[in-house]
Amino acid sequence: MSVVFHEKSGEFHLFNDEISYIISILPNGQLGQLYYGKRLRDRESFEHLQEYGMRSMVAWVGGLGRRDVSLELLKQEYPSFGSSDFRNPAFEILQENGSHVSNFRYVSHEIISGKPGLSGLPATYTEAPEEADTIVFTLFDEVTQVELKLNYTVFRDYNAIARSAHFENKGSQTLKLNSAMSFSLDLPGTEYEWMQFSGAWAREREPFVKKIGSGVTSVESMRGCSSPNQNPFVVIRKPGTTEDCGEAYGVSLVYSGNFLAQAEGDTYGQTRVMIGINPRGFCWNLTPGEVFQTPEAVVVYSAQGLNGMSQNFHELYRTRLARGYWRDRERPVLLNNWEATYMDFDEEKILNIARKACEAGIELFVLDDGWFGKRNDDFRGLGDWFVNTDKLENGISGLSRKITEMGMRFGLWFEPEMVNEDSDLFRAHPDWILATPGREPSLGRNQCVLDFSRKVVVDAIYEMMEKVIADSDITYIKWDMNRSITECYSAAYAANQQGEIYHRYILGVYDLYERLITRFPEILFESCASGGARFDPGMLYYAPQAWCSDDTDAVERIGIQYGTSYCYPVSSVGAHVSVVPNHQILRETPLETRFNVAMFGAFGYELDITRMPEEEFEEVKKQVAFVKQYRKLIHTGTYYRLADPFATNEGAWMLVSQDQKEAIVMYSRILIHPNSPVKRLKLKGLNPDLEYRIEAPRKKEVSRCGDELMYAGLITTEPAIGDIGEAGADVYTDFYSKVYVLKAN
Ligand code: DGJ
Repeated sequence: MSVVFHEKSGEFHLFNDEISYIISILPNGQLGQLYYGKRLRDRESFEHLQEYGMRSMVAWVGGLGRRDVSLELLKQEYPSFGSSDFRNPAFEILQENGSHVSNFRYVSHEIISGKPGLSGLPATYTEAPEEADTIVFTLFDEVTQVELKLNYTVFRDYNAIARSAHFENKGSQTLKLNSAMSFSLDLPGTEYEWMQFSGAWAREREPFVKKIGSGVTSVESMRGCSSPNQNPFVVIRKPGTTEDCGEAYGVSLVYSGNFLAQAEGDTYGQTRVMIGINPRGFCWNLTPGEVFQTPEAVVVYSAQGLNGMSQNFHELYRTRLARGYWRDRERPVLLNNWEATYMDFDEEKILNIARKACEAGIELFVLDDGWFGKRNDDFRGLGDWFVNTDKLENGISGLSRKITEMGMRFGLWFEPEMVNEDSDLFRAHPDWILATPGREPSLGRNQCVLDFSRKVVVDAIYEMMEKVIADSDITYIKWDMNRSITECYSAAYAANQQGEIYHRYILGVYDLYERLITRFPEILFESCASGGARFDPGMLYYAPQAWCSDDTDAVERIGIQYGTSYCYPVSSVGAHVSVVPNHQILRETPLETRFNVAMFGAFGYELDITRMPEEEFEEVKKQVAFVKQYRKLIHTGTYYRLADPFATNEGAWMLVSQDQKEAIVMYSRILIHPNSPVKRLKLKGLNPDLEYRIEAPRKKEVSRCGDELMYAGLITTEPAIGDIGEAGADVYTDFYSKVYVLKAN
């Protein structure tokens, strides 16, 4: 991997073994984009990849004496609005005189081994300088006296480019930064498809595909969080791209607040792709000396279809975005009491559940919502982070010690960013919430949002949380967030700073996370937001796993986890076995299928294990043992999507170990049909020359070669007439699933 500067042509070639990213200095000094795709041999100039020309009704750049330099026609790196480009800009600076035209010209560049961090913001990182090279371009706008630094990192081992932008006002004008995207890329052609991951509470991240063509295609969040409705991740792909072949660009924002992802097809044959903080509701005061750092965007190019793209994101995000003590450690099998008791519990009830969980081999007990303040329902208590001794007479410290003495770890739920009006915290500080003067704040789940843009508020929450954690045996925290931000206004900031609040709020969230992680480095954090409403790369930097969805129904989860897999690693996907009828949709599914789906995640149970029939409890013991045996493979193996549950009656995926000697396959058939045809599931990523022993519950063990399994396939759909081994009545059911383990010597 390298960054090469060709002085004569003024071009920069960022490459590794798989990809090339080529930047040039345009005649007016701005940065131009020449190429991003499959690796090209390095050469002095690729200038012919930029198409200069003259067309009617275009404006050409002033002061150059050339009529063939129109920004409207040129591929650029970080375009501005107001001059000769009429497409959407990557940023906008408003001057004191009302002008918003900028012209950032190249001044210098610096090539750095490794990757510098972004202060106060989550970002991918390197552990050794040889893992990546970073080039930082310095550009300057003479009129506004603003310096712009554009950062690009090319990784040795991933087809990924990480980008961000940094503004500094070096002049004396008070400027306003009205927008500042993290990433902008002009691609040649408009023949692309756009893939987005949309949904709502309990049905997060369903993939949708559209044609881009001419005009703007976009998704965004204005909810103050990344949201369950749209994920800050989109794919731009060539028509015909499949899971295994074709070109795809995955565009991901390492940020947890409002965002905009957009593709603009023009009418001259270019597509401008960008992602960053949503300009709506954003305005940063760039006063003299002030700086603004955008969040990071990560873009993966894959010539090996969508699976190739996802594998790059998985590995990069699992090992170079997630951090800390738990990054590479096997995650404990947990039991969470939420669906078991909701807020109706006392110490005895909790200890009984924990005891039984311990007997099953479960390693971590998580006490969810309801342990603090007067929290007996969701109308009160948030903000009062001290134990409710009416429920837990020995406090969290006493309870956590009793559970630790059983041989289990103990974890606790918090919702640090929220407050109920019926709480001591709100009564003492009614002005600590986000609310617009003179208007009633809108409530969500009966709660208000604390003003995390204010340090005093973050400090107060930190102190309360720190005390509870320090006094107890806590090794896991579930950090929840159960409403969107409305009436985003801070009483502590001036009128002209209200456009900063959404972003300052998220910086406050990151700050609290960072302080807690620093103080308690061995605590495993799981982020959560009414399920998967803040399932984004920003959160993964602090919490290596996230509760994927409040929908714990196994069939729903096949789709939700499948959609989530386009960007996020299996190790980050919180997934639990719950009871039937399912609490969200009342569906009854076999225990085996609930397990088969949930094990492909950060695994646990969310049920009252004391109420389980004995035979199910015995089954749970076996499940826990199975997960302990295979969780390393599941969390670190290479992931392949095999069958799409959104398009067919089946859902399937598999993981293969790095040495290709072990693999684990999940196959599910949603509804049973009578006398259905036999289908073969073609496996992926195996070594064609190895012979694999195939183990599956209640099946006779057989051996098959890797080539056969990949090119001819494994019969799965109608086991009675041809699967490996004997079929039982268990396969004649809706919501059937099977997990196969493959092992080669
Ligand atoms: C929403 C979460 O997604 C649930 O798992 C649970 O923690 C509840 N909040 C508790 O209020």
